[in-house]
Amino acid sequence: MRARHFLIASFIFFGCLWTLSAQNAPSKYEAKIDSLMNLMTLEEKIGQTVMYGGGWAKTGPFVNTDYEKYIREGSVGAMLNVYTSKATRDLQKIAVENTRLGIPLLFGYDVIHGHRTIFPINLALSGSWDPELVELTSRIAAEEASAEGLHWTFAPMLDIARDPRWGRISEGAGEDVYLTNVLAKSYVKGFQGDDLSKNNTILACAKHFVGYGAAQAGRDYHTVSMGEDELRNVYLPPFKAAVDAGVETFMTAFNELNGVPATGNKLIFRDILRNEWDFKGFVVSDYTAINELIPHGFAKDSLDAARLAMLAGVDMDMMGHVYRKNLKKLIEEGEVSEDLVNESCRKILSAKFKLGLFEDPYRYSDEKRQQETIYKPQFLKAARDAAAASSVLLKNDGNALPLEKSATIALIGPLAKDEYHINGNWGGAGDRKGKSVSIYEGLQEYLEDSQMLYAKGCELEKDDESGFQEAIDVAKKADVVLLVMGESYHMSGEAASRTDIRIPGIQPKLIKKIREAVPNKKIVLLLMNGRPLDLSEEIGQVDAILEAWYPGTMGGSGVADVLFGVYNPSAKLTVTFPRNVGQIPIYYNMKNTGRPIPESNPKQDYKSNYIDSPNTPLFVFGHGLSYTTFQYSGLTLSSAHIGFNDTLTARVSITNTGNYDGHEVVQLYIHDKVGSITRPVKELKGFQKIFLKKRESKIVTFNISVEDLKFYNNNMEYVAEAGEFEIAIAPSSDFKFKHLFTLE
Ligand code: NOJ
Repeated sequence: MRARHFLIASFIFFGCLWTLSAQNAPSKYEAKIDSLMNLMTLEEKIGQTVMYGGGWAKTGPFVNTDYEKYIREGSVGAMLNVYTSKATRDLQKIAVENTRLGIPLLFGYDVIHGHRTIFPINLALSGSWDPELVELTSRIAAEEASAEGLHWTFAPMLDIARDPRWGRISEGAGEDVYLTNVLAKSYVKGFQGDDLSKNNTILACAKHFVGYGAAQAGRDYHTVSMGEDELRNVYLPPFKAAVDAGVETFMTAFNELNGVPATGNKLIFRDILRNEWDFKGFVVSDYTAINELIPHGFAKDSLDAARLAMLAGVDMDMMGHVYRKNLKKLIEEGEVSEDLVNESCRKILSAKFKLGLFEDPYRYSDEKRQQETIYKPQFLKAARDAAAASSVLLKNDGNALPLEKSATIALIGPLAKDEYHINGNWGGAGDRKGKSVSIYEGLQEYLEDSQMLYAKGCELEKDDESGFQEAIDVAKKADVVLLVMGESYHMSGEAASRTDIRIPGIQPKLIKKIREAVPNKKIVLLLMNGRPLDLSEEIGQVDAILEAWYPGTMGGSGVADVLFGVYNPSAKLTVTFPRNVGQIPIYYNMKNTGRPIPESNPKQDYKSNYIDSPNTPLFVFGHGLSYTTFQYSGLTLSSAHIGFNDTLTARVSITNTGNYDGHEVVQLYIHDKVGSITRPVKELKGFQKIFLKKRESKIVTFNISVEDLKFYNNNMEYVAEAGEFEIAIAPSSDFKFKHLFTLE
């Protein structure tokens, strides 16, 4: 104990000296870090690069159960999957009071779409096209997580995803680069706030760097191979946006990228992230991803894996034991320079300083604050609003929705009373049963129990049809049928790829049977799922489809607000819904090819089409209906030509022509007609979410500068090229360009 106190005293003393002398220190903590590092042994420095898990959640092979021992030895820098103020305080106490230097631990957890109060899954939230809402939800998540001892979230996931077979498509903002860039900033700002030293802010983590969303065949962890054009223009930009927003940490990806596993990829971590983008924070591996360099066929053994990851720029080893076991030997053998380990240690310590953990290691572990914070009524209200704002009305024939409050509703389906799946994958520490509001409970706010006729009908995945008859009977008795169906939440998220993206099990069969039994009744399909589904069969069977995704803790209430028209749906898809799995990958901003299909004859031979399916998807990117209608008219441009230093202003008048007040997501698209590398057929370059009362009109204005026209050319220069650009302001990506301007 005495030795420890002496060391801490000298740390403070040297720290003061350094603070006085370090005039040109790059950050205000550098001097303190230097003095602390002067006291640290190599083993202790390596210890900072090690993350172990407390085993409260597990997303990979469980490697370690002996974490307390390692904490006592000073060979752990961060802990994963431990939360609550008590549990974190208990472990922090070991690190602070029982190790030589008392360096506090960092506690990290996957706070992905909420911590206790669970918001809609990230793919759903992106469909709100509301950066402020995304910031608010991550702010609330940070409030709750930080009150339970957490310092760090492994979010946002910024992987562009264009393959709905991939289960992790549910965790990102969909297929578009521009929208993901915008939301990357909102997430980072929400989690980190504007001052990390406040105890209600947490470190964000941009993940997974990089290319993970492009896993071949949509199979998780699978190979990724792409040219630099696609890497630079599609997959990297959201990560750059996160760096620009000040994100403090990055996580590696599991996949290989062009033959080099991301976790051992020097090009992406040292050359691009550090040297090109000047990222100053630290990089954590994904869960045992350093070990996985071996089965990838990139590292010979664990020693080699540690060497490759450290050389690539991976500062912290999540769960792998690889750094703890090998870094010292690698340094002794001259395979890895000690400077690299010092650099990693320094960056990790810097994060701890920024969080104020050296001033008070327990500042996040306060039981009173925890009790006062989690599930605050205003958080639950925000979750309800977010659920409403994220539900996409895909189809609404004959105004099947909104529902009449006087109607008798047949509530059918395995998810109608569900409180478990509704929180979705990566449900954080959110309680499910007994806490989450089911669709049934949400409807109870609007209907008498006698108006709600319930039958489960079937299970999500089993093939027992014995409940069909009861479901048909209640459908016959009701005015309207509301089917609540979809995927189990385990069918999306990590390690949950599917080759068949239809509604699973016998649910589609039940839909058909009900349609046959009540041919003239309105049937509404309310879906919960974590990916775009192939709804080709269902679309002809039902009158309306509301895509609720997994709407979270207050999902039932928020969705009921939409069903009854208290909230007029405004969400729009941020990912394309294919007609069939064979069209995948399908996304709105594809390239034209040398043989695009002629509009007049899409089936023409020797054109880029299928012989057994249209090219068009079932629902396009940007699609989403409202209970009202919006008319777009009179796009005008401030000029038909702009110079490289000019700004072009595009205006359109939008009128709410229907009978409900409502929000509209107005989308700006551009097409660079000829490029030194081919450009997509259309690219989102701006959006605004506006509110219009019925019969109200507004002029919506977008300013376009040369920055909006830039892309990485073949020499990997970020440039705009002179020439013609098509432009449109539209309610979805399904439109034809009619306007043009030139950049000269
Ligand atoms: C593996 C996942 O890929 C990653 O996204 C997550 O943050 C870590 N496990 C930690 O749970």
